[in-house]
Amino acid sequence: MPQLISSPAEKLTGRITVPGDKSISHRALIMGALALGESLITGLLEGEDVLNTARAMQALGADIRRDDSGVWHVRGRGVGALKQPDQALDMGNSGTGARLLMGLVATHPISATFIGDASLSSRPMKRVMIPLERFGATFSGAEDGTLPLTVMGTASPLPIRYEVPVASAQVKSAVMLAALNTPGRTTIIEPVPTRDHTERMFRHFGVEITVTDEKGGRVIDIMGQPELVARSMAVPGDPSSAAFAVVAALITPGSDILIENVGLNENRIGLFLTLKDMGAQIDFLNAREECGEPVADLRVRHSTLKAINVPPGRAPSMIDEYPILCVAAAFAEGITVMRGAGELRVKESDRIALMVEGLRKVGVQVEEFEDGMAVTGGAVPEGGCLIATHLDHRIAMSFLTLGLRTKNPVTVDDGSVIETSFPGFAPLMNSLGAHIGESS
Ligand code: S3P
Repeated sequence: MPQLISSPAEKLTGRITVPGDKSISHRALIMGALALGESLITGLLEGEDVLNTARAMQALGADIRRDDSGVWHVRGRGVGALKQPDQALDMGNSGTGARLLMGLVATHPISATFIGDASLSSRPMKRVMIPLERFGATFSGAEDGTLPLTVMGTASPLPIRYEVPVASAQVKSAVMLAALNTPGRTTIIEPVPTRDHTERMFRHFGVEITVTDEKGGRVIDIMGQPELVARSMAVPGDPSSAAFAVVAALITPGSDILIENVGLNENRIGLFLTLKDMGAQIDFLNAREECGEPVADLRVRHSTLKAINVPPGRAPSMIDEYPILCVAAAFAEGITVMRGAGELRVKESDRIALMVEGLRKVGVQVEEFEDGMAVTGGAVPEGGCLIATHLDHRIAMSFLTLGLRTKNPVTVDDGSVIETSFPGFAPLMNSLGAHIGESS
């Protein structure tokens, strides 16, 4: 558990690319493993979460290897041909990996036990078990629906019509993946739109899928048991990782940075819209599309930020970015109010509780609500403290970003958790002018 320390920085300048998108990387491996032939993936995130999904897909029968140039080769078995794994599938810290693969296994005639670290083992799985049971799958494990859990997939799945009760792309995607090996038409109703990477990936691989906008939400129809053919994929940079460099540049006087090749899916850009509402200078340059996902380069300059009431309806499009938004809010004049984000309590940690605790520790005034918080910004915080990360990578990176601008350095108790989503975070930030290193 190496502690990392972040010391005040002068200004950030230069040009970087951030690692591949985590959500898209999981899905690229899964879809490649279901397609016949060899799919090539460039830009795959090589973070622990995604590597655990790769290992799990290998255990389920896919042939997956990385070549020396960093391209991933995935040879699939076809929909319906997953093999019985020999051992439990260890999903580490990843809710996405666990929930998506539970969906996949649910409609195959195999069983798989899912395990994970202490953080993942406390997260709610009933939200996927309930719809997957309707396909015919059964589960054994803890009464409260936490890992370890064993999924007994069904040999004769029935298509379902399911309205997703929480705004969750993981639940939606688990149902979509279960639908792939289910004969007939599965319909998923999503009252609040969430990230649509699975939908885009299904289209890319030739799945018969229609998406209809309805009453502010979406209706997704999927015809099951398609024959998927291998496809190439280029994974864009993760906007959720870019977010740390964006906020670091915004709050550090004199900064001017360029982040190349950032994915800008409309269901992921809530943070950037919010920061712009707060007065941030963020320019989207060279906008283009790659493998069905919008991408651009981001130029970010230091900006004087002002507090706003963040629209609660934006929560699904920035759900992973509230911790780093809190850091921006600490430097914005006035009180930034964030509500409608109750889902933060069931992420890798209770992110509302941990942000409130950590912000108070560094000297920022914050009020806690059940579904969010209000951060009073404007004064340079004291810092000079140790933050508990509770196995949460985004808590660690958020406070290290904050430490660039506090009066005294900020230390996080466990820097290793950052490996789950952003390998190379500290050296990359340091290449821009940050001072993040191991604490002695
Ligand atoms: C993800 C969906 C979101 C997000 C997570 C990745 C995905 O979770 O927080 O980091 O890849 O589908 P929820 O589905 O729980 O909202």
